[in-house]
Amino acid sequence: MNWLITTITSSIGKKLLMAITGLCFCTFLTAHLAGNLTLYAGKEAFNSYAEHLHSLGPLITVAETGLLLFGIIHVLTGIVLFYQNFTARPEKYAVNKSAGGSTLGSSTMPYTGLILMAFIILHLINFHFIDKTGTTIFQIVSDAFSKTAYIIIYVFAMMVVALHVSHGLWSAFQTLGVNHPKYMPLIRKAGITFSILIGIGFGFIPVFISLTT
Ligand code: HEM
Repeated sequence: MNWLITTITSSIGKKLLMAITGLCFCTFLTAHLAGNLTLYAGKEAFNSYAEHLHSLGPLITVAETGLLLFGIIHVLTGIVLFYQNFTARPEKYAVNKSAGGSTLGSSTMPYTGLILMAFIILHLINFHFIDKTGTTIFQIVSDAFSKTAYIIIYVFAMMVVALHVSHGLWSAFQTLGVNHPKYMPLIRKAGITFSILIGIGFGFIPVFISLTT
């Protein structure tokens, strides 16, 4: 137990926690996007996907609990690391600058992270903690995206997700020790490609729904 506390409280331990929980989120985003792509196939396809998902019952509860726990760890550890960096170098905050140069993604990590936290709370209120009796999940989504404000918020949030992931994925691999000079440029490109796919895949949904329903 002692080793666990020492690891978590050390700087590298916290970075490891950020990396592992962040990678879990990227896996969740991939699965979530794959499911949401059925929206492009119409309401029957999306409702049937959601029904199948909910029929998994306890498995979904386990996944949701894990996601919540990982979310709390990721956010709290991120806040602690940000504070420690800030007080250590009050004149300038930089994430992994020495390792890969400052990019828009790296220098905005704490801010994009906070925006995402606010987005996820709003998102869960919109689609998760909503009374689903007498309606369908497709109807709930299309009602939300019939409002211009929601389209703007969601498209903006998806750009923020892409920016956060564009640095986060690469940084996570670095923390986990994958920093061979031969593979790092490849991982960086893969991270950017992944973030663009996530941004476009999710970001086009509100526009598509508002134009087709
Ligand atoms: C246009 C983009 C998106 C759409 C249309 C969408 C749609 C949905 C819907 C309909 C649900 C509820 C599923 C259900 O209860 O049956 C949901 C849940 C959720 N979404 Fe999204 N989502 C989008 C983007 C995102 C993004 C970018 C994130 C993370 C940054 C995210 C995180 C979540 C989480 C954490 C849940 C709860 C998962 C669960 O209860 O198992 N979503 N989303």
